[in-house]
Amino acid sequence: MASASSVSRLVVILILINVGAISDKTIFVIASAAGLLSSPVQLEREALLITGWWYDNWATSGNYTSDHCKWTGIRCNSAGSVIRVSLLWYENDNMKGELGRFNFSCFPNLKSFKIHSNYLLSGSIPSEITALSMLQTLELPSSRLTGIIPSEMGRLRNLVRLDLSDNYIGGYIPPTLGRLSKLKILNLSSNFLVGNIPLTLCHLSKLKILNLSSNSLVGNIPPTLGHLTQLTTLAMSNKVAI
Ligand SMILES: *[C@@H]1O[C@H](CO)[C@@H](O)[C@H](O)[C@H]1NC(C)=O
Ligand SMILES: *[C@@H]1O[C@H](CO)[C@@H](O)[C@H](O)[C@H]1NC(C)=O
Ligand SMILES: *[C@@H]1O[C@H](CO)[C@@H](O)[C@H](O)[C@H]1NC(C)=O
Ligand SMILES: *[C@@H]1O[C@H](CO)[C@@H](O)[C@H](O)[C@H]1NC(C)=O
Repeated sequence: MASASSVSRLVVILILINVGAISDKTIFVIASAAGLLSSPVQLEREALLITGWWYDNWATSGNYTSDHCKWTGIRCNSAGSVIRVSLLWYENDNMKGELGRFNFSCFPNLKSFKIHSNYLLSGSIPSEITALSMLQTLELPSSRLTGIIPSEMGRLRNLVRLDLSDNYIGGYIPPTLGRLSKLKILNLSSNFLVGNIPLTLCHLSKLKILNLSSNSLVGNIPPTLGHLTQLTTLAMSNKVAI
């Protein structure tokens, strides 16, 4: 049964449509907000539009009514569900703003989320990111991200590449990252991370690259990191006190 508020929103939408005073795009956004478009693929499309990052003809390869799987940086599986978002040095002033505009809970099939955005993204990494249970690649380097690394990120068990380098992220490195048993690349360099290097990182047996340089970490490098036999690159220079 529709709630009173969704009925009233529907009435508002119908009135606006009758008046004819607003664009199709506005109707889409309002209808979306009212939850009138509800297939999983429509929810993904709606969640992409709400970010405002795909807003012009160029970003949407023609027009916003086109298939969102064809938009810049988007890749879908055969069912039309988004599996990759890859915006690399995407010159788009509209991207200025919160990472939180991207509603991670709408993308159950996302495997790769890369935004190399010329310092445009701000806000913190939402713990909702753990909804991305298929996620293998998370790259958000060189932005203006703040806050902490949510300890819930230890639930992203399929993660292979994690790059949050060159941001303004503080707090501790969560020991839960030691649960990311498939991780090959961990780049947290150039942030404001404090505290010790968690001993749990020595459980990351597939790790090839570990860069924790340019943070404010203290304490010793855990000798057990010597157990990481795949490691080819280990960088902990600068502010790490040994
Ligand atoms: C916009 O895209 C839709 C769906 O692909 C298409 O039917 C329509 O003709 C396009 N409109 C313009 C103006 O290109
Ligand atoms: C994200 O999407 C989910 C599922 O559609 C919805 O329940 C939730 O309210 C959305 N969150 C935000 C912040 O819009
Ligand atoms: C890690 O991040 C820094 C800063 O973004 C970058 O210079 C470096 O190439 C990245 N990769 C490795 C392997 O350290
Ligand atoms: C590690 O990160 C630092 C700072 O972000 C970067 O300058 C350095 O090149 C990286 N180290 C390696 C070995 O890639």
